[in-house]
Amino acid sequence: MEQPITEQSNPLSSNIDVASSEEIVQILYACDLEIFHGWKNSQGIKDKGLIDKIENLAKKISNVIEKPGGGIVISGCGTSGRIAFLTARTFNCYLKSKGKEECFQYIIAGDDKALFTSIELAEDDPVVGAEKLNQVCKEKASVVYIGVTCGLSAPFVAGQLDLCLSQPEKYTPVLIGFNPVELARNLDIEKWDKTFLQVAQNLEIAEKQQKAFILNPVIGPEPITGSSRMKSGTTTRILLEVLSLFAIQKDIKLSIEELMSMYESVCNCVYKQSHHLGSLIDLAGASLNSGGNIYYLGCEGFGLMAMIDASECPPTYGASFHDIRGFVTGGFSALNNNDGDLSNLGSQYQISVEDFEREILPAITSDDLVVLLGEDIFQRSSKSLLDLPCKKAYVTFQWDQTSTSSTCVEFGLALSIALNAPLVDRISPDCKFLVMQLLEEVSLKWVVNSLSTGAHILKGKVCQNMMIDVKVSNSKLFHRAVGIVQNYSSLSHEESCHCLLKSIYDTDILTEEQTSAPVVSHINAASQKLMVVPVAILIAKLSCSIKSAKEMISCQPVLRKVLIQKDCSA
Ligand code: F6P
Repeated sequence: MEQPITEQSNPLSSNIDVASSEEIVQILYACDLEIFHGWKNSQGIKDKGLIDKIENLAKKISNVIEKPGGGIVISGCGTSGRIAFLTARTFNCYLKSKGKEECFQYIIAGDDKALFTSIELAEDDPVVGAEKLNQVCKEKASVVYIGVTCGLSAPFVAGQLDLCLSQPEKYTPVLIGFNPVELARNLDIEKWDKTFLQVAQNLEIAEKQQKAFILNPVIGPEPITGSSRMKSGTTTRILLEVLSLFAIQKDIKLSIEELMSMYESVCNCVYKQSHHLGSLIDLAGASLNSGGNIYYLGCEGFGLMAMIDASECPPTYGASFHDIRGFVTGGFSALNNNDGDLSNLGSQYQISVEDFEREILPAITSDDLVVLLGEDIFQRSSKSLLDLPCKKAYVTFQWDQTSTSSTCVEFGLALSIALNAPLVDRISPDCKFLVMQLLEEVSLKWVVNSLSTGAHILKGKVCQNMMIDVKVSNSKLFHRAVGIVQNYSSLSHEESCHCLLKSIYDTDILTEEQTSAPVVSHINAASQKLMVVPVAILIAKLSCSIKSAKEMISCQPVLRKVLIQKDCSA
């Protein structure tokens, strides 16, 4: 069976783990260009069929929200839900500034606690998904529902799409993802009667009757296999922004293709700085490798974008939540989120720059890195950081510069990236500022994704282009982990699964009860354990005991090095 494209290994990045920092950035660039240029026979987001659909859908949204009781709901899990939140927030702010009704709503699996912390298990529940959508829309007469699941896989979203299909008079369902429908996930969903594939096929039928939309451009595999926070997250952002803009602003004075080409132009501008971005990765990698932490500080969209980047590091790289954290000025008061202020839930939810200054700054060390994102936060915080021992970096964007400058001034690495999108001056004055903000935020996404990915590569959390310390925290990640173990061994799928279970249950001999338990029990057992997948890989590859696998990893956490040492001594 062909693997979904979002779970395949990208040949462009197969040596990213042994690349220099600057080369890492160049590899990420090459992979990101597939968003715009396509992959194999696909044309990426410039596909004519996709652009026509976006145009029709934007008209549909516009009709729905113009009527009383009409609304648009964007939903997803993990990064997809976070991008849904960010889009709803941005466009509601814009509508409010124009004196119009705020008509965007978002849903994220796991609710707002999942906005900046990882709660992957919530992704597996289609029933809760449908209940949440019902709740959000109970007062609405007509809704365009956009479910984002990059891998066409999340049961939470499947439940919502299925609900929409059962009430066509109220809902127009839209699916955004990055696999062809036939590669949608076809695994049983616990306590449900359909697979994602079946729901997607029903949606295809509804699309033919013009009652649904599927936006699923193929943009090629992720640079780190399966890491949908990267290209897929970026493409989600671009699609949602283009759609929303064209739905609420009829007079942009640009075509959809032209707007998309502006995203491509800023992508080129950012990655042209591979040398400077490489230096940023070196700083970040040095911090993580010496046990220090990385702190992003930013205002508004920059702070939020950076927090989204940080929040995916625990499930992707087995990182602790302290390793990379983001803070935004004003914290929850700046968010406009569904559940309001969550800061009393514990330190993970203390997200304001003020919290950072109070709780973290006094104990900052030379191993830590503070990254200021944007001029506003630089004006606010750079002076107080100057005399502190931590490493410092500053990233900002300029539209009025022709070249990028990077100076290792006393502040550390100060990088000002010149953005240039040729059509910017043609945009109608009403939304020019908004478009520039969106382009800056996506540029920032490329910068922070490069930083956090590069730093974890330098920490040894990637082998070839696989995330070998992925947290086994939901069904998709469980199956991905089995695939990773199998990839590094010559074992069958079943044998690889057993190695993973041995690591999860911390035993050399599995009981019948353990092997026959449902996936959710494995996930619960794995939730408190560290290095589950690396240990499983060693057991699978070296046929060793759990104890010796753990000993090897405690002496040398970089798996590729352990394997090389073993190959040499064999
Ligand atoms: O399960 C965790 C995760 O892989 C996140 O990394 C990702 O953002 C989320 O799932 C959503 O994935 P998808 O958009 O494919 O449903």
